Amino acid sequence: MPLFRRKPAPQAFVPAPPDEARQIQAEREELAVKNDPQSVIAEQYRRLRNSILTLNPDRASRTILITSAVRGEGKSVATLNLALALVEQSRIRVVVVDGDVRAPSIERYLGLPRRQGISEVLLGEAPLKAVIRQTSVERLDIIGAGARPPNPSDILNLDRIKSVLHQLKREYDYVLIDTPPTLNLNDPSMLGAISDGIILVVRLGETARHMVEQAQGMLENLGGNILGLCLTGAQPAGKAYQPY
Ligand SMILES: Nc1ncnc2c1ncn2[C@@H]1O[C@H](COP(=O)(O)OP(=O)(O)OP(=O)(O)O)[C@@H](O)[C@H]1O
Ligand SMILES: [Mg+2]
Repeated sequence: MPLFRRKPAPQAFVPAPPDEARQIQAEREELAVKNDPQSVIAEQYRRLRNSILTLNPDRASRTILITSAVRGEGKSVATLNLALALVEQSRIRVVVVDGDVRAPSIERYLGLPRRQGISEVLLGEAPLKAVIRQTSVERLDIIGAGARPPNPSDILNLDRIKSVLHQLKREYDYVLIDTPPTLNLNDPSMLGAISDGIILVVRLGETARHMVEQAQGMLENLGGNILGLCLTGAQPAGKAYQPY
């Protein structure tokens, strides 16, 4: 075995062909709101949606960041199900941004090929309009993570991100941002500070309480506004997951 592994060549993505994502059905079973709409899980996501709508009676456009203390608590699945629940309401337009450029999964859960996304926008390599993809679900658009930059922290330019979010808020009622875990990286606490609200996903029975509290502290110390928790991993009769 060689002593030093050769670094893999950086991945480069092409712009998404227009309409590509509209032709692909989102069929993964984790997308309960769409694919098992009568389930307890789907209902729980609708309840989370209703809480968010109630907290926003004047229907202002909002950016909501979804994070968790550690990896694998169910953030990305929760982000997509919340988005699906929001667009069930007539006229609500949602864009989901994959802000986890190190371990993106929004395109994967939707069965979409990886294309240029938010990284390219933040690096000035693609215009925002070019990376927005309409999905097969009406009024639900996504922006993928794009290629992983050599140093992902380089794209954490808050002024640039604020300007992108500002543009998105003009077009959408809700901008949902899927992020990495808060305890691993600075991104969520920094992005949380410039979002209107934060949902903290907690996998019941797995994530230690002190970790959740530490994540909460990190988010709130930078001024983040935690709207509530989304609990995953509860076991209703016959079901594997029950968020919130
Ligand atoms: N409601 C659900 N139903 C079935 N499986 C689920 C559900 N929610 C999450 N999972 C499973 O849990 C795992 C982690 O989910 P997810 O990718 O949403 O977590 P994450 O917090 O975004 O992870 P990461 O920190 O790696 O980004 C996946 O294998 C996913 O299939
Ligand atoms: Mg994820």
